Amino acid sequence: MSAPEDIRRSVLLKRRPTAELSARDFEIHEDAIPAPAAGEIVTRTIYLSIDPYMRGRLREEQTYAVGIKPGEVMTGETVGEVIASAHPDFAVGDVVVGPRGWQSHCLAEGDKVVKIDRSLGVPLSTYLGVLGMPGATAYTGVTEIIKPKPGETIVVSAASGAVGSVAGQFAKRAGARVVGVAGGPDKCLWVQDSLGFDDCVDHRALDLRAELRAACPHGIDGYFENVGGAVQAAVFDLLNRHARVAMCGMVSQYNMTEFPPGPNLGFVVGKAVLIQGFIVSDNPQRLIDWRRIAAPWVADGSLVYREDIIDGLENAPEALAGLLEGRNFGKMLVRVGHEPT
Ligand SMILES: NC(=O)c1ccc[n+]([C@@H]2O[C@H](COP(=O)([O-])OP(=O)(O)OC[C@H]3O[C@@H](n4cnc5c(N)ncnc54)[C@H](OP(=O)(O)O)[C@@H]3O)[C@@H](O)[C@H]2O)c1
Repeated sequence: MSAPEDIRRSVLLKRRPTAELSARDFEIHEDAIPAPAAGEIVTRTIYLSIDPYMRGRLREEQTYAVGIKPGEVMTGETVGEVIASAHPDFAVGDVVVGPRGWQSHCLAEGDKVVKIDRSLGVPLSTYLGVLGMPGATAYTGVTEIIKPKPGETIVVSAASGAVGSVAGQFAKRAGARVVGVAGGPDKCLWVQDSLGFDDCVDHRALDLRAELRAACPHGIDGYFENVGGAVQAAVFDLLNRHARVAMCGMVSQYNMTEFPPGPNLGFVVGKAVLIQGFIVSDNPQRLIDWRRIAAPWVADGSLVYREDIIDGLENAPEALAGLLEGRNFGKMLVRVGHEPT
C-alpha cells in the first residue's frame, strides 16, 4: 500500500526483540512529508533494502554502528525519486540511491546520496543488491582476503543470497572451483544451474560434514563465511594449509540472546590459516569500484542475480524476520512505490 500524496509513513521500532524478530516489534507512524532545508532533498521511496545487519541495530548492546532505540525510525538504504530539492546537484525527477529509512518518503542530505545514471540500462533495484552494498561486500571479501587462484576450492555459505551469489560467481571468474552451501534443494539447484557453481551442499542435509567432504575432495583453500554455526564447523574441518577465511557475517546467530562457545582455533597455527573479518563500509571506495566493474556484467547478463521483492512498506518487518530464517530466495527488497515512467 503506498502513502497518500502528502503523508509520510514510517516504520518505527516499538520494542527491542528478545530473540526471534516479530512484526509486532514495529509500528507504523504517519506525519506530514517534510520540506528540505538547504543542502537536503526529499525522496519518494521506490525500493527499500532489507539486510541481516539490521538485526544488530536492534540490540541493546551496540555493534559496529549506532543502534536504533524504541520510537526511532528503522534504518535502511533506499532507491527513491527526488520530489523536492534544496541541493544544487539534484532536481525533481532524479533517481537516487542512499536515503536511509523504512519510510515512504526520506529527508536526506544531498551529499550522502548518489544519483543513478539511468542510461546504464540496469534495473533500479540492483543498486541495493548486486550493484549495491551486498555486491561490494562480496567483491571485498573475495579480492582483499580470499584472493582465489585458479584450481583452488572456494566454499561460499548462504550461496543463494545477495552476498554469497556474487562472491561465488566472482571467485569462479578468478578460475577457482566454487562450492556453495545453501538451505534446501531449490536453492542448491539454482546455485549450480543458474549461478554456475561447481557444486552446492544443502546445510540441512543429515550429514553435512560428509556431503561437504564429498564436494571438496581436495580440501578447502578459501571460505566466504556468511552464516557461522554448524556450517562453519564443517568447513573448518576441511581447511587446507594456507587457507583464507573471509569473515563476512554469522547470520545463524543474529537472533540469539547468548552465543555458543567458539571453535578450538589450534588448527589456525598448524595450518597457517588466515581468518580476517571486514566491514564493507569502512572503505567507501569499494562500492564505487565495484559498481564500475560489475555494471557492464549486470547489463550483459553475465553476472546473475535474483531478487525476492515483496510489496508494501508495512511488510518490511516480516521481510526482515524471514531473511533471518532463510525464507528469502535472493536479495530481499520491499517495493514501496512505483518506478518512474
Ligand atoms: N561484513 C560486511 O560488511 C557485510 C555486509 C553485508 C552483509 N554481510 C553479511 O553477509 C551475510 C549474507 O548477507 P545477505 O544480505 O547476502 O543475506 P542473504 O544471504 O540474502 O540472506 C540470509 C541467508 O542466510 C541464510 N541463513 C539464515 N539462517 C541460517 C542458518 N541458521 N544456517 C545457515 N544459513 C542460514 C539463509 O539462506 P539459506 O536458506 O541458504 O540457509 C538466508 O537466506 C550476512 O551474514 C550479513 O550479515 C556482511
